[in-house]
Amino acid sequence: MSAGTPVFLAACRREPVPYTPIWIMRQAGRYLPEYRELRAKVSFDALTRTPQLAAEVTLQPLRRFALDAAILFSDIMTPLQGMGVDLTFEPGPVVREPIRSDAAIEALRPLSPERDVPFVLESIRLIRAAAPRGVPLIGFAGGPFTLFCYLVGGRQSKQFEAARAFLYSDPDAAGRLLERLADAMAAYLAAQATAGAQALMLFESWGGLLAPPQFEQFALRAARRTLAALRSCGVPLIYYLNQGSALLKHLATIEADVIGVDWRSPLDEVRRVLGGLKAVQGNLDPAALFAPPEVLEQEAGRVLHEAGGLPGHIFNLGHGIWPHTDPEAVARLVDVVHERSARAAGAR
Ligand code: CP3
Repeated sequence: MSAGTPVFLAACRREPVPYTPIWIMRQAGRYLPEYRELRAKVSFDALTRTPQLAAEVTLQPLRRFALDAAILFSDIMTPLQGMGVDLTFEPGPVVREPIRSDAAIEALRPLSPERDVPFVLESIRLIRAAAPRGVPLIGFAGGPFTLFCYLVGGRQSKQFEAARAFLYSDPDAAGRLLERLADAMAAYLAAQATAGAQALMLFESWGGLLAPPQFEQFALRAARRTLAALRSCGVPLIYYLNQGSALLKHLATIEADVIGVDWRSPLDEVRRVLGGLKAVQGNLDPAALFAPPEVLEQEAGRVLHEAGGLPGHIFNLGHGIWPHTDPEAVARLVDVVHERSARAAGAR
């Protein structure tokens, strides 16, 4: 690791690090009393559209915990509002008129980030100016298929039946919608990097609902389109796939530097399948934060052990932190990961 490179960015590039970096998906949010206090006065939508407030919420977890990265406070659905989609957060995203026809697909405006989401780019500039040195900022977008699930389905659901049925009933239209989303997210993420984001992450939260052939044909193809367009940005690219244990071998060729997985995929197996050519991110079960301290410590140790102590592991949960988590447990987790991994690095 060259002097001055933040530990998180070095780990993304699989360079040796003095300890394993950690950040937590959804680290800004409802489990923090200071977030709830702000949220009691301001809607979620207004938080994401007011750069000073989005920056404040992004920085809140960094004041409490020794986290190794910040993540922009926004939502995967926010840029779709800029493309003309009428949606509200209740608290999950609800699309007023789900997209199920060619006409609705054609009506989606291509995203022009400076025109359509200037507040996101301004938030990034404010965060960069205020974040502690050594704590890089991650920009993000939804994976095309995950956005497709909400756009076609209209709201959160367990199986996203409407979206998955659409893949089979009209694969051509589904492919066109996914391509539009892939291109829009490429433009969105490139603009975030230009504004100052130091790594870019694609959240494919619902890709694991698909069988391997449909994952390959629809979700992976679209995600690859987005990631390929971002290669020239020069920042690490992270692809997170939830419930992807049956899909790992499809990820080996994706154009990402880091693969994030949920707790159902053991990291040693993920490493084996990826052939050591990518860093891995994850993957403690968010439920483990409810364990007694010694069990939490043991589980964190297990994740570190499965990651193999090799360069190229970023500690995280396997999915977003739960809203009723005790912030004290997060503080313990961050400290345990740093202490144990530093000790192991010292022993090598
Ligand atoms: O990670 C962070 O700290 C940054 C903020 C962030 C939010 N959403 C804030 C948010 C990020 C990275 C997201 C991504 C997101 N949003 C995903 C991908 C990651 C994942 O969890 O799978 C998805 C699927 C969504 C869609 C979404 N937005 C849902 C399902 C919900 C409601 C349920 C929930 O978990 O809160 C939202 C709303 C939302 N996004 C909230 C926050 C803090 C809650 C809004 C509130 O305060 O009421």
